[in-house]
Amino acid sequence: METRITILCDNSISRSGFVGEHGFSCLIERGDEKYLFDTGPGRSLPLNLETLNMDLKGLKRIFISHGHYDHTGGLPWAVQQVGEIEVVAHPAVFSRHMVMDPAAPDKPPRYIGCPVSREELERSGAIFRFMDHTVEAAPGVWFVTGIDRDPDKAPKDPRLAVPKGNGFVQDFIEDDASLLIETDGAPVLILGCAHAGVLNILEYLRTKMGIDRLRAILGGTHLMFYGPEDLPGVIKEFERFSVDLVGVSHCTGFQAAVELSNHFGDRFAAASAGKTFTF
Ligand SMILES: [Fe+2]
Ligand SMILES: [Fe+2]
Repeated sequence: METRITILCDNSISRSGFVGEHGFSCLIERGDEKYLFDTGPGRSLPLNLETLNMDLKGLKRIFISHGHYDHTGGLPWAVQQVGEIEVVAHPAVFSRHMVMDPAAPDKPPRYIGCPVSREELERSGAIFRFMDHTVEAAPGVWFVTGIDRDPDKAPKDPRLAVPKGNGFVQDFIEDDASLLIETDGAPVLILGCAHAGVLNILEYLRTKMGIDRLRAILGGTHLMFYGPEDLPGVIKEFERFSVDLVGVSHCTGFQAAVELSNHFGDRFAAASAGKTFTF
């Protein structure tokens, strides 16, 4: 079965007519079914769909990678387009995700979680299916979450915080989830923001799901929060999965994207808004 993945929201655009916005969203089309993975912060989703001459009619399911606003902000609009729709997310998706300003550590952290409440979304038609472990959430589409976190293999992002007691502790984004999509060849991995750490996610695929080859790694790799010294290890790990395509978006960062491009050459792509990948 052919799978088409179209990037609907990314920080950058693939050509004129699209709108760039800090965040991520993609549309997955398989046979007669289509799914939305993340929704961006909200503005670019309808505009980029219009440019693509596409809409969300007949959407079967929405998957959410985690609760940050740059992945959930378009949810109210997306739900409104389809009416009743199942939304698959980790149960911690509505956590009080906050961010500290490293330049002003005395300033109170700012809320960067989902801008609308669960109740509000349910009133619009969202039917939440909360999953704290990996499941095949649609035929051939695996919602990958609840993975082990080796701190040495995770991004370093100490700005992220959640309230605890009278203060705040570091937010490890427990709700982080990715999608693994079966194809006629090896599966495709789509990352939302990879807060769990792309290396931890790959380790999980290998040890818990028995996957040793990936057709593509697409989406937000969060490599901008790894040190430059970590990149050779990441490239080595991608190669270990004999990946045919590394298509990066969102939180990859320019430096990491350049290094990946230099290494992977023809197998590298910028997965920016408006780009379609067919598997
Ligand atoms: Fe995030
Ligand atoms: Fe993000």
